[in-house]
Amino acid sequence: MQVEDSYFLSLSNQEKEVMLENIKQELKTKMTEARYRHSLGTMQKAKELAELYGEDSLNAMLTGLVHDIAKEMTKEEYFLYFVQNKMQMDEFDKVQLVALHGKVGADIAKKKYHFTKEMQDAIFYHTTGRANMTKLDKIIFLADKIEDTRENTEGLQQVKELAKRDMDEAILWDIDHFIIPKMIAQRKMIHPNSIFARNDIIKRK
Ligand SMILES: [Fe+2]
Ligand SMILES: [Fe+2]
Repeated sequence: MQVEDSYFLSLSNQEKEVMLENIKQELKTKMTEARYRHSLGTMQKAKELAELYGEDSLNAMLTGLVHDIAKEMTKEEYFLYFVQNKMQMDEFDKVQLVALHGKVGADIAKKKYHFTKEMQDAIFYHTTGRANMTKLDKIIFLADKIEDTRENTEGLQQVKELAKRDMDEAILWDIDHFIIPKMIAQRKMIHPNSIFARNDIIKRK
């Protein structure tokens, strides 16, 4: 446990449920309807995966609900947030804005909601994965992909099936069939954290 986690860990489940409802109301007014429904869907899938794999379901629900809190910020808002919060941009952040929403979202989760470091990390890495993913990292990574508002393609069906049996296999499949081909098709850099996540899963299998 980290010192910064102490506030969140002192909350009762009833207090976390109140927090969940308050954040839902807040996001409903701030987000587009589609993003709000995606956030609720991710929260629901995070709950299901947490129950299946023995993780704290309220923590997973809160993390799923908040994971895209920074997704609708403009380029200017991201840059301003980085300056105001003395955060560092790496070479990916500068050219692939989508990579920023995990970083900024994790920082908001820390400062505004006092989420634990583990919950912050699951938000930080939800788009790329990373080496040594925690159970909560895996739950949020997958819940984001397989939630019910996503179009149910054949490929997604495969991720859903694998997620029920083995989260590592589901993540590996997603990286190999979605993340890497998409980056190649768009001639974009592949984030090293996705490669680290992939190598780490293969090494352990
Ligand atoms: Fe996201
Ligand atoms: Fe998302």
